[in-house]
Amino acid sequence: MVNREKLKAAYDSELKLFHELHPTSIKRFEAARECLLLGVPLNWMVRYAGKIPISVDDSHGAHLTDADGIDYIDFCLGDTGSMTGHGPKAAADVIAAQAHKGTSFMLPTEDATWNAKELQRRFGMKYWQFSTSATDANRFACRMARQITKRPKVLVFNWCYHGTVDEVFATLTEDGKVINRLGNIGPQVDPSVTTKVVEWNDVDALEEALKDRDVAVVLAEPVMTNIGIVHPLPGYHKALRELTRKYGTYLLIDETHTICTGIGGYTREHNLDPDIVVVGKTLASGIPVGAYGFTEEFGDKIAKELDSLYGLVKGIGGTLAANALTMAAMKAILKDVLTEDFYKRNIPKAEKFNAGVEATIKEFGLPWSTTQLGTRTEYWFCPEVAKNGSEAVSFRDFDLDWYCHMYCLNRGILMTPFHNMAIMTDAHTDADIDKHTAIFREAVSKIVD
Ligand SMILES: Cc1ncc(COP(=O)(O)O)c(C=O)c1O
Repeated sequence: MVNREKLKAAYDSELKLFHELHPTSIKRFEAARECLLLGVPLNWMVRYAGKIPISVDDSHGAHLTDADGIDYIDFCLGDTGSMTGHGPKAAADVIAAQAHKGTSFMLPTEDATWNAKELQRRFGMKYWQFSTSATDANRFACRMARQITKRPKVLVFNWCYHGTVDEVFATLTEDGKVINRLGNIGPQVDPSVTTKVVEWNDVDALEEALKDRDVAVVLAEPVMTNIGIVHPLPGYHKALRELTRKYGTYLLIDETHTICTGIGGYTREHNLDPDIVVVGKTLASGIPVGAYGFTEEFGDKIAKELDSLYGLVKGIGGTLAANALTMAAMKAILKDVLTEDFYKRNIPKAEKFNAGVEATIKEFGLPWSTTQLGTRTEYWFCPEVAKNGSEAVSFRDFDLDWYCHMYCLNRGILMTPFHNMAIMTDAHTDADIDKHTAIFREAVSKIVD
């Protein structure tokens, strides 16, 4: 149904329009090339639609303003970092006040205990530790699991993402070999030495991989979100828990994105029973943060290990982790912003967003689909959503992805890059969602026969 010639022509004209609309962002990008690698602070940012990122000057609630004075409805929200909106007052006031009182002491503040107690209530994990990112939380939890089990490997799901943890940049070949993930700079070490990889939702492959009892920990997003949203099949989480227990492997559930499901993430909503939970991003209003919680059993074991290593550099942490500013911001977010009501208000917006997309899919008779997880929604250019990472990769259509992102961006809508994903927050209005519905329809109408 999509006419590829029309698509190419439409994309080219959107790219031209993008350049006309963004002279200041482009000028800033050119200046940055003198000192920032590729002209961006993080090298992947050249992969935004338009091939350069817009330069942000201001933000409020669910809106951003760029260097050219263009206002955007932000459905990306820092891909979860700003899931509670930009500058929510309850957090902004606390952050400003704490900045005046000092930010980083390398000593605990009372807020750390309050936050740990609240995370304990939400996720059911007994003990908590903090880090400066969810990547670090995953990395530290893996180290602890290895220390306790004395096993060398971790297991991840094909095409997963858990941050820039070296071992997890591993994928499977068609004949089942573990290789460095395509596009990963490095590799840091041959990933087949450190990592086992299986397809999500494949119970037999999981058991086969755990049988050797050399896996310290399985890292799983409870729903894959980084290769598109890929839900677990019925019974998969039960099997995952039973098999990890059977073979003495710890189970880490990474809720960094799936916190969009509810206050205790997917774990709480679906009564999962992991050994370790990792969370981060949105917890401190966009201030870098990570947190990892674990069971009493895991905590007692690692405490013993740490005790026996007394005097050596244990290196689990970092001087900036759990600093006073981050902890104050986290308390404000958990206490006053990321509440049960936040989800009650915003999950229906995700449903509305998807209904708008589906109306266009139906109108034009397209073989496309939508999916949703809590406040997070997504559309796919294939008839059914994927059930594992390989399928998700094979279903991707970069030409359509880039065109839809560009078309939205040129009309004041920012989607989450690398997916057609949108995240809902309090400040999104019905009018914001209706605007996306109308723009998406318009974009589609230009490329179909
Ligand atoms: C599931 C998951 N875990 C961990 C991370 C890493 O988070 P951070 O960027 O805070 O290190 C991400 C980032 O997107 C993620 O999606």
